[in-house]
Amino acid sequence: MDPDSCGSGAQRRSGVALGDPSVSRSVCLAIRFELETDRITPPLRSWDRRESRPKGGAYNLSVRLRVGSWRSLRGNLPSGDWSACVCLRLQKFMMSAMTHPLDQIDPLAEFRDQFYLPPGKVYFDGNSLGLLCRPAERAVLAAVEEWKTLAIEGWTAGEADWFHLTERIAAQLGRMVQAPADSITLTGSTTLHLHQMLATLYRRDDSRPDILIDSSAFPTDRYAVASFLRNQGRDPAQHLREVATDDAGLLNEADIVAGFRQGVQLAILPSVVFTTGQLLDLARVTTGAAECDVRLCWDCSHSVGVVPLNLSQLQPDAAIWCTYKYLNGGPGSVAAMYLHPRWHELPPGLAGWFGAEKSRQFRMEPELVPAAGAGRLQLGTPHVLSLAALRGALEMVEAAGVPRLRQKSLQLTGYLRDRLQRRLPAAGFVWATPAADERRGGHLALRHPRARSLSLALRARGFVPDFREPDLLRMAPSPLYSRFADCDDLVEAIGQILADKSELPGLSETLVT
Ligand SMILES: Cc1ncc(COP(=O)(O)O)c(C=O)c1O
Repeated sequence: MDPDSCGSGAQRRSGVALGDPSVSRSVCLAIRFELETDRITPPLRSWDRRESRPKGGAYNLSVRLRVGSWRSLRGNLPSGDWSACVCLRLQKFMMSAMTHPLDQIDPLAEFRDQFYLPPGKVYFDGNSLGLLCRPAERAVLAAVEEWKTLAIEGWTAGEADWFHLTERIAAQLGRMVQAPADSITLTGSTTLHLHQMLATLYRRDDSRPDILIDSSAFPTDRYAVASFLRNQGRDPAQHLREVATDDAGLLNEADIVAGFRQGVQLAILPSVVFTTGQLLDLARVTTGAAECDVRLCWDCSHSVGVVPLNLSQLQPDAAIWCTYKYLNGGPGSVAAMYLHPRWHELPPGLAGWFGAEKSRQFRMEPELVPAAGAGRLQLGTPHVLSLAALRGALEMVEAAGVPRLRQKSLQLTGYLRDRLQRRLPAAGFVWATPAADERRGGHLALRHPRARSLSLALRARGFVPDFREPDLLRMAPSPLYSRFADCDDLVEAIGQILADKSELPGLSETLVT
């Protein structure tokens, strides 16, 4: 078909088969947005499209465009072999002409180019595993090079200085959560850090033996507390206390504070609940704990990097967090922990030689002389390659700034929620995430009886949200690399899947993470 033969006001149809799904996806996504918002840059007036991806076959896209003035489109389309190259040209044209208005004015838009976006996917799972960015990649490659060329000297040589790598990252994180660098350290997984905080902060001689968590706690928090109590010779059935959620599945700060008064000496609580995305009133709960002499450790896994934290002002006893979600440190990246300066003299509950005072570590003394500050909570040799990735990734978060990330994150989740409500008012969704900005973390969660199937169907279409038992669909647009246009596309895909129920796979035991 040759566009030159098209007259003004004509309706044209092109069927294009492509081998590269990412190319065709960008085309159709761009088209879709403009029509929904009615902000069509001339000359498009209406459209129709069909997509299909037969198993193992090429991704097919057919677009029918009704154009107001074909002449104005013509300049952007190829003359000559229309069917061979129209798709790429059309994509370019659409993408430049039809960028979502909110993406156009997004002050953080430039960061997206720094990330490796999984080909053919629209990623909404940064609350589980953030994506790889170029600075993280560069930092890992540099660390590999150091290992290659410096070998053992990497621990002490010039820039590599692996011996102090943990402290350098603690300083980066300290700026991010507004805490002194020496109150932060990194040594192992989030779970290990939980054990470290329990072992360090729990008072065996306290007449209040109980530990408080919330009923929606992440499993590892619960397992850590239960096993810790068992090791103390206490039955978790009796001494692991839980504050329950309300009928809407949300935690109530007043209930938490009331829980502090009931034989509890230590509490582990989430700043943002991993299921619902509820952001707790951290100041209120922290103050309530202090008033009851309850030692409080926040699990900030779902807030650091997306919700501004000022730990110096908040003054909790401790905090732990993972670094592979909004900090993009990589799969299994080393977690972080904060210990309030008032506890810097406590002996580490779990001890290891990297918790030693650095100037004495290589004296190999039989008794540990702990480092000043949170550094004493370190255990063994730092995971240099993993820390390198984290160090690079943190540069991105620092450059963007957490307050700006929070602002965009709220805009994205607010926009997504609004679009879902408007586009699919009768879909049977029940919002798990509170609507108010000040009660919402970085992700949106909704309940739906077919959430698992919906999540699988979305993945089959190239969207990556996640599912949590029994009926929760979580969607996390990342402020560093997600676009408002992605939210539109997700909403449209959900609408199409729900409209065409045959696309909803039956329940399966597939692992959906
Ligand atoms: C709230 C919370 N705590 C802890 C963890 C995981 O701990 P770890 O990094 O040790 O696997 C997660 C993981 O998603 C989490 O969401």
